[in-house]
Amino acid sequence: MSAATPTTPAATPAARPAGLGAWAAYRRLLGYATPYWVLLLAAGITMIIEAVAGSAFVALMDPLVNKGFVNPEPRMATVLPLQIIGLFLVRGIAGYITDYGMARAGRSMVRDLRDEIIGKYLRMPSSHFDVESVPSMVSRLNFDTEQVAQAGTDALKAMVTDTLTVAFMLGMMVWVSLEVTVAVLLVTPLIGVVVWYVGKRYRRISRGIQEDMGRLAQAAEQTLAAQQDVKVYGTQASEQARYSALANRVLRLNVKVEATRAGSSALVQMLAALALAAIIAVATRQALVGDINAGEFVTLMMAMMAIIPSLRRLTNVQAVLGRGVAAAQRLFAVLDAPEEVDRGNAGFGGRRARGELVFERVGLRYARADGAEAAGPDAGWALRDISFTARPGTVTAIVGRSGSGKTSLVRLVPRFYEPTEGRITLDGVDIDEYRLAELRGQIALVGQRVMLFDDTIAANIAYAAAADEARLREVARAANALEFIERLPEGLATRIGDNGALLSGGQRQRLAIARAMLKDAPILILDEATAALDTESERLVQDALQKLMPDRTTLVIAHRLSTIEHADQVLVLDHGRLVEQGTHAQLLAQDGLYAHLHRMQFREQGGA
Ligand SMILES: Nc1ncnc2c1ncn2[C@@H]1O[C@H](COP(=O)(O)OP(=O)(O)OP(=O)(O)O)[C@@H](O)[C@H]1O
Ligand SMILES: [Mg+2]
Repeated sequence: MSAATPTTPAATPAARPAGLGAWAAYRRLLGYATPYWVLLLAAGITMIIEAVAGSAFVALMDPLVNKGFVNPEPRMATVLPLQIIGLFLVRGIAGYITDYGMARAGRSMVRDLRDEIIGKYLRMPSSHFDVESVPSMVSRLNFDTEQVAQAGTDALKAMVTDTLTVAFMLGMMVWVSLEVTVAVLLVTPLIGVVVWYVGKRYRRISRGIQEDMGRLAQAAEQTLAAQQDVKVYGTQASEQARYSALANRVLRLNVKVEATRAGSSALVQMLAALALAAIIAVATRQALVGDINAGEFVTLMMAMMAIIPSLRRLTNVQAVLGRGVAAAQRLFAVLDAPEEVDRGNAGFGGRRARGELVFERVGLRYARADGAEAAGPDAGWALRDISFTARPGTVTAIVGRSGSGKTSLVRLVPRFYEPTEGRITLDGVDIDEYRLAELRGQIALVGQRVMLFDDTIAANIAYAAAADEARLREVARAANALEFIERLPEGLATRIGDNGALLSGGQRQRLAIARAMLKDAPILILDEATAALDTESERLVQDALQKLMPDRTTLVIAHRLSTIEHADQVLVLDHGRLVEQGTHAQLLAQDGLYAHLHRMQFREQGGA
C-alpha cells in the first residue's frame, strides 16, 4: 500500500467522493474473487447445469403433449415421469453446489475485506479520525462489506443462471418458430431500457442511503453515550428530533429505492405480458396454416413463462450490483487513503533509547475538517515555535490554560500528528527517521482520556506485554491500584465492562498508569494522568512515578502543584506558544504567567 503523499493532516479521504469509476471498482472487486476461483468455477459449472436442466424440462413439453396426449405412446407413461424426476434431481444437486460455492466464496470475500479494512484503519493517521467518525467506520466494516458480498454472489448467480436460462429459452423459441420469437423480441429492447434506467437510479440513491445510515448510527451513538447529559439538560426532545430527521431521510430514500424496484418490476411484467399476447396472436395464426402443433405451442408458452421470472431477477440484479459497486467504491476509497508516514528505517536494535528529546522550533497546525482557513497570523496554529530539550532522567512539566496546546505538544512525540514546521529529535535523530513501531516502542503514554477494553483487569494492565501475576501485582501496587483491585470480587480476573464502565474515573486512571508502568519505556508521557485522583492517591501515584523517573524522560501535563514543584523544568504554554521556561522557583521569581496561574491555584486550593 502506498504511503506516498506526505501526510499533511489536510488529506481527508472520508470527505472525498468515491474516486473510482463503477467499472474500475467492479474489476478491482473481481480481484478479491480470484483466490476462490475453484469454488467459483465449480459454482459456475453447476449454474450452467441448473440452467440446462431447467431448459430441458421445457423441452420435455413437446413430447409430453404430442406423444402423451395428442398421439399417446404407451412407453411415455413411464419414460416421461422418470425423465422429470431425473431432471429435478440433477437440478437440485447442482443448485445446492451453486449456493454452497457462492456463499462460501462470498463470505470469504467479506472476511478478507473486513480484515483489510480494519488493518487499514489502524494504519491511518490520527488526523483521519478527526474527519471520519468511528460509527461511520464501523458501518463500512459491517454494512458495506456485506453489500459487496451480495453483489458478488446473489447477483452473479442470478446473472449467470438467468442469462443462460433466457438464452436457452430464446434458442428453443427460435427453433420452434422464428416468427413468434421475432414478435417477442420486438418488445425486449423496451425491457432493456427499463433495466438500464433502474440500475442508474439505484446506484445514486443507494449511495445516499449508505451515507445517511452512517450519520444515523453516529447520531444514535452520540445521543445514547451522552444519555446522562441528555437527561440532565432535558434535551430528549431535540435529540429525538435530530434523530427523527435523519431517520426520515433514510425512510424517504429507502422508499424511493423500493418504488423504483417495484415500479420497474411491474413494468417489466407488463411488457412480458405484451410479449405473451404477441405470441398468441402470431401462433394461433400459424396454427391455422399448420406451421405449429400443440406440443410446439405449449413449449413456446412454457419458454415464455420461464423467461419472465429470469428477466425480473435480472432487473433486480442491477440494483443489487449497483449497491454492491457503490459499497465497493466506498471501501476502495478507504483502502486508497493515505496511511501514517513511516519512511524511516532507523531503530534501536532492541536496546532502550537514552531518551533525549529535543524540540526545535516546532509548529503544528491542525487541518480543519471543513477546510476553512482561519484569519490572523497565529490563527489555526495549535503550536508555534516551540523549542526545548528534555534530558534523560528529568521531568518536564507542561502547564498552561485549557486549550493552550499541551496535549497537542505531547501528541507529536509518538507522531500521532506530524509537526507542520520544525523538527523533533530523539537521541539526536529526527523522529521521522525511526520506524514508527520502533519509536512508539520507546514511549509509554497515559492520555487525558483513558481507554480500557472490555476484558479483565489483568488483561487491561498487560495490554501490550505479557506478564506474570507477581509482576502485575507489582505494577498495580506501584500505581496505587492494588488496594481497590483486591476489594473487587474476582481481583485481577474481574471484568471491567465496556471501556471500564464498572470502574470510577480515578480507578481507570490508575489502571492506565499501571499499564504504562508495565511497559517501562524510556519516555513516559502523562497527560493529566492523575487529574481524577484525590490528593492522597495522587501523592501515592506520584511517589511511584518518582521512583520510575530516574531512568527515563518524563513529560507530564498537570495542574497539581505537587507534580510541578518537583519537575526539573516547567514549560508554560499560552495560545500555542512557549511563553516561559524554567524551574518552579525561577518562574515564580519571574512573576509572569506561571506566577499568575500559581497564585490562582493556591487561592483555589486554599479556598477548597
Ligand atoms: N484533533 C484536533 N483537530 C483540530 N484542532 C484541534 C485538535 N485537537 C486540538 N485542537 C485544537 O488545538 C488547540 C490546543 O488543544 P490541546 O488539546 O492541545 O489543548 P490543551 O492545552 O491540552 O487543553 P486542556 O488543558 O483543556 O486539555 C485547541 O484550540 C484545540 O481546539
Ligand atoms: Mg489536553
